[in-house]
Amino acid sequence: RTMEATLIPGDGIGPEITEAVLQVLEALGAPFVWDVQQAGTTAVEAGLDPLPDATLESIRRTGLALKGPLTTPSSGGYRSVTVRMREAFDLYANVRPGKTIIPGRYDNVDIILVRENLEGLYVGREHYIGVGADPHAVGVGIGINTKEEAHRVIRYAFDLAVRLGRKRVTVVHKANILKILSGVFLEAAQEVARDYHGRVTLDESIVDACAMQLVMAPERFDVIVTTNLFGDILSDLIAGLVGGLGLAPGANIGDKAAIFEAVHGSAPDIAGKGVANPTALLMAVGMMLDHVGETAKANHLRAAILATLQAGEKTRDLGGSLRTPEFAQAIIRSLQKP
Ligand code: NAI
Ligand code: MG
Repeated sequence: RTMEATLIPGDGIGPEITEAVLQVLEALGAPFVWDVQQAGTTAVEAGLDPLPDATLESIRRTGLALKGPLTTPSSGGYRSVTVRMREAFDLYANVRPGKTIIPGRYDNVDIILVRENLEGLYVGREHYIGVGADPHAVGVGIGINTKEEAHRVIRYAFDLAVRLGRKRVTVVHKANILKILSGVFLEAAQEVARDYHGRVTLDESIVDACAMQLVMAPERFDVIVTTNLFGDILSDLIAGLVGGLGLAPGANIGDKAAIFEAVHGSAPDIAGKGVANPTALLMAVGMMLDHVGETAKANHLRAAILATLQAGEKTRDLGGSLRTPEFAQAIIRSLQKP
């Protein structure tokens, strides 16, 4: 069985980690036939829009994509392509698991964070009030949380909890201060939770206290559901609890398409040096295999990654010395062990 999927190698370290992933997937015998497309800085340098029509059309057709990191210029410049893609395909749930795979600061973290992916403060309604570099300039950003969208993503989190046999969903909010913006989301969580009475319980946590608790006692958390900005920040925090951005995958899920990616960005500081860790993107492929029902292959891939890391074969970010292609070869050897 094969299936077509869109592949966007991405910017910065994107092409290096994508190359490593393709080699591992060939050894794994993954079912994907890739339609390679461009986006981000790579597309702009080729004279295209940062999100070319051909890329959108490809994902519309395949409904399935693996995406390398895309550079987004800070202040000014074009709007985040990653954010535009989420909007274009209505990818409302961003699922970011954080699980200890190599012992580090914590040995038993196993959190799934579900981030609302379309609304909140990321709707792109920002205004600069002032003229030029005005000493009295005012920055305005509008946040939007709708009850419908909150219901949809919170229901996704509860259904995921049921499917994975998990017992608790923590809604993370700031409704004490952002009484309306965050309050709508909290209220939606309380409403959805009623339908899961006796199966999954709802916990409530205010985002700043939650950040502290995640560092003090991360093993207490199970599934977390939260709004866009908080989810962005806390998922990097959780990545840090389990070994860093080099290990953290994410899935952008909608009803008609799903895009899988690493949580990390294009890492310009190490791009082109051949030292990037491809594990996060590989773990994203693991989620992609799960998504299409290839559970055995997903488990085989994860077991090989785990065995490789546990044997001390690591890239530099994890204290090892393997270069990206060497690490890919180590995983391939591990895949081929009976
Ligand atoms: P970053 O995640 O690219 O890098 C943060 C730090 O982690 C850097 O020191 C980097 O070297 C390290 N790192 C990240 N991934 C790594 C890997 N696979 N192996 C080893 N080390 C790794 O975050 P930063 O620097 O804030 O952003 C760089 C660019 O990436 C920006 O343009 C940003 O907008 C974009 N970005 C894109 C994302 C996406 O496409 N989903 C997500 C986050 C950022
Ligand atoms: Mg982020």
